[in-house]
Amino acid sequence: MKRVELKELTEKKAEYLNKEVTVCGWVRTSRDSKNVAFAELNDGSAMRHTQIVFDKSKFAPDILGNCLNLGSALKITGKLVEGMKAEAVEIVAEKVELLGECDLSYPLQKKRHTMEYLRTIPHLRVRTNTFNAMFRIRSELSYALHEFFHKNGFYYVHTPIITGSDCEGAGEIFKVTTVGYAPNVKSEEDYYKNDFFGCAAGLTVSGQLEGEVMATAMGKIYTFGPTFRAENSNTPRHAAEFWQIEPEVAFAELDDIIEIATDMIKYIVRHLLTRCADELKFFDERFEKGLIAKLENVANSEFARVDYTDAIEILKKSGKQFVYPVEWGCDLQTEHERYLTDEVYNKPVFVVNYPKDIKSFYMKLNPDGKTVAATDLLVPGVGEIIGCSERENDYGKLLKAIEVRNMKMSDYEQYLDLRKFGSVPHSGFGLGLERMLMYVTGIGNIRDTQIFARTKSNLS
Ligand code: 4AD
Ligand code: MG
Repeated sequence: MKRVELKELTEKKAEYLNKEVTVCGWVRTSRDSKNVAFAELNDGSAMRHTQIVFDKSKFAPDILGNCLNLGSALKITGKLVEGMKAEAVEIVAEKVELLGECDLSYPLQKKRHTMEYLRTIPHLRVRTNTFNAMFRIRSELSYALHEFFHKNGFYYVHTPIITGSDCEGAGEIFKVTTVGYAPNVKSEEDYYKNDFFGCAAGLTVSGQLEGEVMATAMGKIYTFGPTFRAENSNTPRHAAEFWQIEPEVAFAELDDIIEIATDMIKYIVRHLLTRCADELKFFDERFEKGLIAKLENVANSEFARVDYTDAIEILKKSGKQFVYPVEWGCDLQTEHERYLTDEVYNKPVFVVNYPKDIKSFYMKLNPDGKTVAATDLLVPGVGEIIGCSERENDYGKLLKAIEVRNMKMSDYEQYLDLRKFGSVPHSGFGLGLERMLMYVTGIGNIRDTQIFARTKSNLS
C-alpha cells in the first residue's frame, strides 16, 4: 500500500506542497459543517495530526459519515496545501477509502481520559497522544542507548532469560517449571528432579553474573533485555517485568564506572532533546512543568555525589519526621531518597559506599570492612534509576560473602572461578529503562511506560 507518512509531509513540506499525496491513518478528531467536513488524522509517526478537508459536494453523505467516526482508519488521496497554523499542512481530499470502520462503542471518544481508565484498555490507549509520545520516546531512548555503547566500543551480548541462580540473592525469582502441582513430593530436590531442567530454574532478575563472564573475556560488554522480579511491592515504580541496560567493564573501578554512567545518562538525554522535541514539549505541558529545562540541566551540569554516611547525617539533621527512622546501616527508603533528590540536591545524585549488610553479595568490600564500593544514582521525582558497583574480585572475600548469606554455593561455582582464573578489577551497573522513562517524561507511574504492564496482581 503506497503512502506517505504524515511526519514526512511536515518534515519535507517543500517537496510535497501543492502535489497529490496518499496518506493513511486513524481519525483523531472530526468536525462536520454544512459544506465542509474536517478530520484530523494520525498514523503514529508524529505528535502533530494532519488535517484533512472534505468538500462535501464531492462525496456521498453516507460514505463521509462513517469516515468521520473517531478511530476510523482511512486512506486519503488529495492535494497538500498550507495549513492555517505555522508549519502545518492540510490535505484537500479527492478520494477517500474507509479501510476500517470504527464502531461507535470505541472507548476513546473524549478528549482526555484519566490514566487509571486508560490502564483498563491497554490495547487502545496506545492510540492516544500520551502513549504515542511515550512509545516514540521509549524507542528513541533504546536506540540512543545502543548507539552510546556501540560508539564507545562495548559489545552487545545476550545473557540468558532462564537461569538457575539468583543474582540479587533477594529470593524474588519467578519459577520456570513444566511440572504441575504435586502435593506428595518428598523434598524440593525430588520435585525439581522431574522438572524440565532437572533442577530449579527461574526467570533472570539481572544479566549481571553472565555479563561478568563476558566482560572478563571481552573487556567491555552490555546487555539490554527484560528482567523479572516477583517483588511484593505495589508501588508506582516497581514492575514485575522491566527492561534493564547492564554494562560490565573489566579493568574498571567504581570511579570509572560512575564516569561511564554519567556520560551515558547525558548522552541519552541529549539525544531525546534533539530527536523527541515535540514529545518532550507535550510532556512538559501536560505532565511536568519545566521538564525540558530539567533535562537540559541534566545534559549540561555536573551530577552530585555524596557518601552514604554523609547522606545519613544530612537526613538526621533535616528535622523531618520520616516514617522509617534514619540510622547508619538502614536502607534508604523512598522518603529518604526523595528528600535527598527533591529537597537537597535537586538533580541526579550518586550515593556511594553503602553498608555491606544492606547490599548484594557481589559488591567489593571497602578497606573499612563495613561498606562496599557501590552506588545508586537517585533522581528527583523517581528515586533510584541505577544500581552500580565495583565487583568483589578477591576469591576469599567473595566466598565469605556467599557463605554469610547462606547462599547455595554450588550455584556460584562458575562465578567464583572468574576470581581464580586471572581475576581483574571490574565494575558494572543496571539502569532500569522504565524508571528512566518516568524521569524523562514526568509520568508518575511505571504502568504507563509499558504497553502491557506487569505488576503485582495485574497481567492486563
Ligand atoms: O539495583 P538493582 O537491583 O541492580 C541490579 O540488578 C544489578 N545486578 C545491576 C548491575 O549492576 N548490573 O536494579 C538495577 C535497576 C534499578 O536501579 C532500577 O532502575 C531497576 O533496575 N529496577 C526496577 N525497575 C522497575 N521495577 C522493578 N521492580 C525494579 N527493580 C529494579
Ligand atoms: Mg538497587
